[in-house]
Amino acid sequence: MIISPEQVLNALRNVEDPDLKKDLVTLNMIKDLKIEDMQVSFTLELTTPACPMKDMLKNACLNAVKHFVNKEAEVTINVTSRVTKPMDTTQLKDIRNIVLVSSGKGGVGKSTVASNLAIALAADGAKVGLIDADIYGPSVPTMFDLVNAKPGARETPEGKTLIMPIEKYGIKLLSLGFFADPDQPVPWRGPMASNAVKQLFNDADWGELDYLIVDLPPGTGDIHITITQSFPIAGAVIVTTPQQVALADTRKGLAMFRMPGINIPVLGVIENMAYFTPEELPDNKYYIFGKDGGKLLAKSFEVPFLGEIPIVQSITEAGDKGTPIALNASSKLSVSFAELAGKVAQQIAINNALSAN
Ligand SMILES: Nc1ncnc2c1ncn2[C@@H]1O[C@H](COP(=O)(O)OP(=O)(O)OP(=O)(O)O)[C@@H](O)[C@H]1O
Ligand SMILES: [Mg+2]
Repeated sequence: MIISPEQVLNALRNVEDPDLKKDLVTLNMIKDLKIEDMQVSFTLELTTPACPMKDMLKNACLNAVKHFVNKEAEVTINVTSRVTKPMDTTQLKDIRNIVLVSSGKGGVGKSTVASNLAIALAADGAKVGLIDADIYGPSVPTMFDLVNAKPGARETPEGKTLIMPIEKYGIKLLSLGFFADPDQPVPWRGPMASNAVKQLFNDADWGELDYLIVDLPPGTGDIHITITQSFPIAGAVIVTTPQQVALADTRKGLAMFRMPGINIPVLGVIENMAYFTPEELPDNKYYIFGKDGGKLLAKSFEVPFLGEIPIVQSITEAGDKGTPIALNASSKLSVSFAELAGKVAQQIAINNALSAN
């Protein structure tokens, strides 16, 4: 019996992407189909290398071919990804998705989440950049052990000078901290700070990026307005801690993205410092700041709850040492950040698919 390409594609029409609610053939995710006797091979092209459903979809394809075509078929599936963009924009055209990490409140772990998310996405094979837009308290130099680093520059054939992001742990990084003396306060007024931030996007040699993560300063100030008004943003990830005071500020921070004229998709809420866990007793959870605050916030704004990260001493220590915890493959926390990264990438892919319609 000969297997035809139509048979295989018809079988794969039975496999639906649960997020995009369409079958994989309609979504154009099946590529390079080759058939030789009983050997069927094709590429499954996902919308992100961090897809949490990678294995499930691969198995579903395998089962569909065996069930609907021939159970003797030898199926080889090569899983790749092509990260989608929110819209076709000519501005920053090589940067597919700009993702803001934000909160109305200071000290809730925005920089910790932004750095570890960036590392987790890069570990999946995505091309990742990270901008530290916190002009008055930049964290990236410390978190990536780059306190005295100075980015170079290069000139384009057209005579434009481009800042070269610094590469570390597979991520391209720029921080306003690289351009200031770490021991001196930055006496910039709002407009100067805004211009400096814009330069990090416009005048840097980012190359192609799947995700450009932006670590925002606390609050809802000039920098937020500048970035949300100047660049096409795929979405914002909101970080909160469970205390009532933090939640109240985070609500304001989240509401900002919903304001007319800003209107940026909220990808979801991450609850950081959700509970305390002693390193040596990882099953003991102490809800010292209250429980489920982030979940309730997500529910009341009808946005996804992306997950929670406990308070663990090694997160602080790893950040202070310049080796964020997600780099430590043996830590349970790096698995947590990988899951969060998968959820963020998944929400972006869903939004992009919706905006393409
Ligand atoms: N889950 C956690 N467990 C333990 N320590 C944490 C955790 N998250 C963050 N921290 C620590 O808390 C401090 C504040 O975190 P971070 O700098 O990421 O917050 P932030 O929201 O970016 O602050 P800012 O508003 O100043 O920018 C850091 O010392 C960091 O290492
Ligand atoms: Mg910060």
